[in-house]
Amino acid sequence: MSSTARFGRKVPFYILFVTCGLIHLLLFLKTIGNHQSTVCPAYVGKVPTVKETHISSVIQKSEKPILLIWLWPQHVKLFEKDCMTYFNIDSCVLTYDRSLYNVADGVLFFHKSIAWDLSNLPKDPRPAFQKWVWFNIESPTNTARKAGLENLFNLTLTYRRDLDISARHELSIVKSPEQFVCPQKNKIVCWIASNSIRISGTTVRLNYYNELRKHIDVNVYGRAVSGASSLSDEDYYSTIASCKFYLAFENSMHIDYITEKLNGPMVAGTVPIVLGPSRENYEQFIPADSFIHVDDFSDPKALAEYLLQLTQNKDMYMRYFAWRQYFKATPHLLPPWPKQPICAACDHIAKDNTFNVVHDLFWWFHKNVKGNQLK
Ligand SMILES: *[C@@H]1O[C@H](CO)[C@@H](O)[C@H](O)[C@H]1NC(C)=O
Repeated sequence: MSSTARFGRKVPFYILFVTCGLIHLLLFLKTIGNHQSTVCPAYVGKVPTVKETHISSVIQKSEKPILLIWLWPQHVKLFEKDCMTYFNIDSCVLTYDRSLYNVADGVLFFHKSIAWDLSNLPKDPRPAFQKWVWFNIESPTNTARKAGLENLFNLTLTYRRDLDISARHELSIVKSPEQFVCPQKNKIVCWIASNSIRISGTTVRLNYYNELRKHIDVNVYGRAVSGASSLSDEDYYSTIASCKFYLAFENSMHIDYITEKLNGPMVAGTVPIVLGPSRENYEQFIPADSFIHVDDFSDPKALAEYLLQLTQNKDMYMRYFAWRQYFKATPHLLPPWPKQPICAACDHIAKDNTFNVVHDLFWWFHKNVKGNQLK
């Protein structure tokens, strides 16, 4: 008998083998364990499942949407696994590889890194399915209007809640509350301030600080105030925790512009004193009794008096932590690099299949500037 004939005679056998294998696999997946042995008992366990699994996992992987980071914030580079490691986001693939431009579902542009003449934007035509994401973490005060950015982007990624993707530190709900143990405190008021450039709108907070310190001791860290001690990232949370109150002063006043300056004390177990948008706006993000707003007082002197009163009354002070029974704050990365927004954008790209165009990028962004100013 020739080998071809021998092979020919075996063909039905191979077909049977493969068919049984597939049936078995299907049944196995469907019922996991039930009545599998009635179908083709002789081949149980010999199904080429390894190969099947391998192929399907490859398909699955390439099916994940790709977010190409075209321009990113200075110093911040994400590693492939960062979104999973820090934020449990696994729905998309991040890449810096510009050769993937034609297949990328989203392309991310960090506003500050966009050249004024737009010369560093992609030159190739944009695939129909692709979405360009405009990424900005600054407030309107510190956002330059660059010409030619109208009708260019499909999604906006900013701190604003009413825009497409929002980059924020949010409280999460506690499922099983633990007893809150207030950290040991050996200072009353602390402030970490690194930015003093006047143009960025820091005058209001600096003036407030200068008035406040006339009435109460303020421990200052960072470059913004001359003579202040510097602080390393390792000591950030423990330093905030060692103070009864922390000045969570934003550098400019705009709706929703509430940054990691608030998140620090919320994480550390310290009462934040906020200066930024209105109390009402803060209360859209954190419980009303979790913070002190400078607007609650007629002037810095009145605030200082209230703080001194709180240091004398433990019950009153501890009431500022009641919210911890229901919510918890998640530590932000240090240095406070905006990795979370990039991962949020990646996740958004993976879920969003609507058509969007951002017609006038700056109109909505600047429209509230005046109305938002604190003073
Ligand atoms: C993205 O925006 C551009 C215009 O800026 C538009 O031509 C394109 O169709 C939009 N694509 C999607 C997927 O929304």
